[in-house]
Amino acid sequence: MERTYVMIKPDGVARGLMGEVLSRIEKKGLKVVAMKLAVMEEAKAKEHYAEHAARPFFPGLVSFITSAPSLSLVVEGRDSIKIMRAINGATKPAEAALGTIRGDFAMDTGRNIVHASDSLEAAEREIKIHFGNDKILEYKRSDDAYL
Ligand code: PPS
Repeated sequence: MERTYVMIKPDGVARGLMGEVLSRIEKKGLKVVAMKLAVMEEAKAKEHYAEHAARPFFPGLVSFITSAPSLSLVVEGRDSIKIMRAINGATKPAEAALGTIRGDFAMDTGRNIVHASDSLEAAEREIKIHFGNDKILEYKRSDDAYL
């Protein structure tokens, strides 16, 4: 079963949107199999966003992501990577369709509430960074038949 990494960023937590985001994930039929609310360590944030290290926004991005609690998730389901990206919407709020999380709640590219892995390789890498050897849970949902 495909797994992806999802982060509710510090702005999403601070705005009280954890429930809203989790609700959209769960109602779609995706399964949350790991969850961690924590202030991300700087080293982890730098590793997570390493591909953007040369970008001008990188220092600000790292300091924002480590400034306050964020919620890390592992989300499971068929095509979960693609589906989570669709639930989140485009990175830039003006391009994010209404009905997506960013389209409905975000006005700023850097404060766009959620992150989700953009490929299978990224998902495996990001799950490893944030959950290491932590246990990823297995449990049944009543609608598992559809997953
Ligand atoms: S790319 O490579 O051009 O597609 O980069 P992009 O998708 O625009 O952005 C990559 C991630 O960096 C975040 N970002 C920013 N954060 C803070 N400040 C500024 N100015 C900024 N610009 C981009 C953007 O939200 C993306 O984060 P994730 O978590 O991957 O969605």
